[in-house]
Amino acid sequence: DRRIWITRHGESTDNTLGRIGGDSSLSERGRKFAACLTKFIKMQKDLFRQKQLEKYREELKEEKKRYLNFSSSEPEPPERNFLVWTSMLKRTIETVEKFDSKEFDVMHIRFLNEIYAGACEEMTYQQIEEEYPEEYAARKSNKLYYRYPGMGESYLDVIHRVNPLIIELERMTDNILIVTHRVVLRIVLAYFSDVEKEKVPHMDVPLHTVYCLQPKAYGTELLKWVWDE
Ligand code: F6P
Repeated sequence: DRRIWITRHGESTDNTLGRIGGDSSLSERGRKFAACLTKFIKMQKDLFRQKQLEKYREELKEEKKRYLNFSSSEPEPPERNFLVWTSMLKRTIETVEKFDSKEFDVMHIRFLNEIYAGACEEMTYQQIEEEYPEEYAARKSNKLYYRYPGMGESYLDVIHRVNPLIIELERMTDNILIVTHRVVLRIVLAYFSDVEKEKVPHMDVPLHTVYCLQPKAYGTELLKWVWDE
């Protein structure tokens, strides 16, 4: 069974200042998370491969029993690709910087970028409340439909831009790690766990938490791994 791993980037310097959007680098703590994530996913990849080989060897043994000690010369199954997708923003790219490119196919995709907050980019929520009180109130009363001024996006806009990636995720059979942002993470998790649209903007998806989705015939199994240094 293939797995979809998904997380937000490591803590950024903007996160430490409470500023939204922007394109800042990782903080010291964010870099520590990135280092641990790199090792953790490599461990998961190796474990997956080990299980795949165990299953193959078990099947060979069964075959031998069934066919009067004759066994075929079927080669070991090749290891599956492991993809790593990030957004085009520094904080996600830096989070996967140390992944070995011989083992992981890393791609940076604009569709995975965080919601664009237009005129409110790089402001704190408190600054937005003070400088644009009407905007602040409008967002609070309808976060799903609210679109940031100055060519900004709404949750619905992000849902539409992320949709083709979700379709691709459902179609493919590779294992994958997606390193993205709060809004995109909410949208992907909501899709696979059947959360209603209205609830998406309010889902709790903290930093340094890795989710593992395992699509099954009857639905998707979800497992959460929390990193706490
Ligand atoms: O603060 C981090 C962040 O990813 C911002 O860049 C983004 O605007 C915000 O979270 C989205 O969360 P919410 O929709 O709850 O404001």
